[in-house]
Amino acid sequence: MLNHLYTRYSLATRGSGRGWLLVGFTVATFVGFLSWAPVARAQDSTIRAVQNIFDPLSAPAETLYSVSLLVMAVCAAIFLIVGGLLTYAIIRYRRRGPEDDQEEPPQVYGSAAIELAWTVPPILIVVMLVLVTARTIGEIQHHQMPAAAEEIRVIGHRFWWEVRYPKHDVVTANEIHVSLSDRKNRVPTEMILESADVIHGFWVPQLNGKTMLVPNYRNTMWIEPYATGVYLGNCTVLCGQQHANMLIRVVVDKPDVYQKWLESQKQTPVSDSQTEEGQKQFVASSCGTCHTIDGLQGANGVFAPNLTHFASRATLGSGVAPNDEQNLRSWLKDPQVLKAGCLMPNMQLTDNQVDAILAYLRSLK
Ligand code: CUA
Repeated sequence: MLNHLYTRYSLATRGSGRGWLLVGFTVATFVGFLSWAPVARAQDSTIRAVQNIFDPLSAPAETLYSVSLLVMAVCAAIFLIVGGLLTYAIIRYRRRGPEDDQEEPPQVYGSAAIELAWTVPPILIVVMLVLVTARTIGEIQHHQMPAAAEEIRVIGHRFWWEVRYPKHDVVTANEIHVSLSDRKNRVPTEMILESADVIHGFWVPQLNGKTMLVPNYRNTMWIEPYATGVYLGNCTVLCGQQHANMLIRVVVDKPDVYQKWLESQKQTPVSDSQTEEGQKQFVASSCGTCHTIDGLQGANGVFAPNLTHFASRATLGSGVAPNDEQNLRSWLKDPQVLKAGCLMPNMQLTDNQVDAILAYLRSLK
């Protein structure tokens, strides 16, 4: 079609530059469409690996983004004025002129006008920024949640995230599934943030600002994502050796997909003859002292991630590696290889035990 259009126009405008103008316009439109295309693709499960505060995709993140633009505009204006005057003075007075009388310039003391000029505007600017920031914080913290809002509890552990859905009796770890929202039919997710040991920080830049998880204290925050996909975030408070590998994945699904996920997480895994040996070894090797697997006798520990639907997760070790057979084998043989300093010790499993437990864990969809 583009070819056809071009032929038609080049015939009509032969000998003039207008044909090329049209080609240029068409190419520019096409390039523009290509750069817009990723936004359209945001409706599927793309990994949002760039943790960018300038690309907010959730209600509170948008509010924070607009206040950050104001602060940066004010700072940029001050920088340009001060830097501009400084540059002007450096260039204009870089040499002594012939009219220079070698005397000290007149010294000004106690000029009310000058002193007011350099104290009052900065005070007004700071007060304005304080008021705008306070209003934004209030707006986000005292936000009225609609009845449809989902509620989850996120508990920070060294070095992983426990995730609980109290309304649905679902417990998972490290990968937080939430529902997509839209501006008319709002489904925000309220998060209660707690810690089991030391201070951690929860931050998924495209969804909200940083919030700390403090022992013996309940912090709350909320997100309301406007695009599906997997959002990445990090623990933001140095909490120990594997702080950098305390990664967050927030999976935003369409409401029906999210409901299906919740349903699948409520199911108790069925055991079969293929995985019986693995179950036996799991309990015999004391894995169940720290990990829970629903429906398995002797596996009800709470110190480590709940593994009931372990195989449904994309990563293991709180995002340290993809959840595939090779990495899981390495983890079972010695977790310190993939995540040195994590609290799971080397359980000294034999190759047969590793094989059996591996087959069992990979069946927990
Ligand atoms: Cu948890 Cu850093």
